[in-house]
Amino acid sequence: MSTINIINGPNLNEVGIRETSVYGKANLNQYLNKLKEENFEINIEIFQSNHEGEIIQHLQKIKDSSLGIIINPAAYTHTSIGIRDALAIQSCPIIEIHISKISDREDFRHTSLMKDYAWSYIEGYGIDGYRIALERIKELSAIKSR
Ligand code: DQA
Repeated sequence: MSTINIINGPNLNEVGIRETSVYGKANLNQYLNKLKEENFEINIEIFQSNHEGEIIQHLQKIKDSSLGIIINPAAYTHTSIGIRDALAIQSCPIIEIHISKISDREDFRHTSLMKDYAWSYIEGYGIDGYRIALERIKELSAIKSR
């Protein structure tokens, strides 16, 4: 069965504890596992890493099997040409998501090196952005496989 891949970058394993005024008090991991349970009819794989190379390796691994990628590269959004290049080799729809509204935050967060590879871009909806992204990726991958 093809898979929808949710990929989270550094410090997102701490959402619920870290900077709760920015990212909220809900545990992201629990939220995503619940989302996965509710969408039992599709195969959803959740991956989180604090290491740039591991994210790149994961993107290389899934490139022929993924139906759609939902990625929050976190701090690497603003710095990683390596992750950008690994997004460039994907053939499935990609959604970039950010929990906070990065365009309203510090200047260094305004640049996303990933954005031009994203079919859709979601920011500022809190962790519910992942639910929105999942609905969107289902639509996009259905259109693509027609
Ligand atoms: C983030 C925004 C990034 O600037 C930050 O480094 C993160 C999380 C977000 O989801 O709002 O770690 O990607």
